[in-house]
Amino acid sequence: MTRFLMCSPDYFGIEYEINPWMRLSNQSDPVGARAQWQELHHVLTGSLGAAVELMEPVKGLPDLVFTANAGYVEGDLFVSSAFKHRERQGETPYFDSWFQSHGYRVRKLGPGCIFEGMGDALPLGDTVFAGYRHRSEVCSHGALGEIIRRRVLSLELADPYFYHLDTCFCPLDGSSALYFPGAFDSYANQAVREAVPDLLVVSEASAHRFACNAVVVGQTVVTNTGCDDLKHPLAARGYELRMVDLSEFMKSGGSAKCLTLRLA
Ligand code: ARG
Repeated sequence: MTRFLMCSPDYFGIEYEINPWMRLSNQSDPVGARAQWQELHHVLTGSLGAAVELMEPVKGLPDLVFTANAGYVEGDLFVSSAFKHRERQGETPYFDSWFQSHGYRVRKLGPGCIFEGMGDALPLGDTVFAGYRHRSEVCSHGALGEIIRRRVLSLELADPYFYHLDTCFCPLDGSSALYFPGAFDSYANQAVREAVPDLLVVSEASAHRFACNAVVVGQTVVTNTGCDDLKHPLAARGYELRMVDLSEFMKSGGSAKCLTLRLA
C-alpha cells in the first residue's frame, strides 16, 4: 500500500516571501486552504486507497504543510533536510522527532550543506535525480549518495519559479517522467534526456500550474487544476489524470506533491 505523510494546514499562510510565487500582498484563505487540503487527502485515501499518516501542525511554521521537504525517505532511513531559509529551519526538529518516534533511522548530512529533502531529490530506477541552485546545494548530493548508496544525478535548476526539482520533474515509474525543459540549464536538460527513456514534456502553461508537482499512486496522477493537456499523453501511457484545486497552496509555491511525502 502507498503511504504518505501529510500535515494539516491549521497554521498555513503566507507569512514571508522565500520564492517568487509568495507575495505578502496575496494572502491565502484559511477556509479555502483547509477545504483544498481535505479534498487532496480525500482523493488519496478514498478512491486511490493510499494510507496517509498525519503530523501535528505547529503554530508559527506555516510551511510545515509541505512535508515533501522534510527529508529523503528510503525504507526505514530518513535523511533529514537542512533548510536554506531561516523561516523554515524551525521545522526540522518536528520532522526529525516524527521520524524518530515512528521507528526510522534519522540521519543528518553534515554541517553547512543545504538540502531540502524530496523537494529536490527524486528516485527513478536506480538513480536519484537531484536539483540544486535555488534551494539545495550541490554538495548535499554526494553526501546523500553516500548515505543511501545510490547514484545521484545532479541537475542545475535555471528558473527561480521552479526552485525545487519536484516543481519541474516527476517520475512516473522506473523509466518515465513528467518534465518541463524550461526549468533546467542546458547541461541538466541533456543529462535528463540521456537518463530517462520516456519523457513526457509538459507545456509551459501546465508547468506554471505545477503539472510536474504531481502525486503518482498506481496508475493515477494527481495534480493541481488547469493541467488538462496532460490528460491524453498520460492516457497514452496508461495513466489517469486527477486534478484537485490547490490554488491556495500555489500562492506559497506549492501543490499536490509538496503537500505529501511518500513513505513507502
Ligand atoms: N513556501 C514553501 C517554500 O518556499 C513551498 C515549498 C514547496 N515544496 C516543494 N517540495 N516544492 O519553501
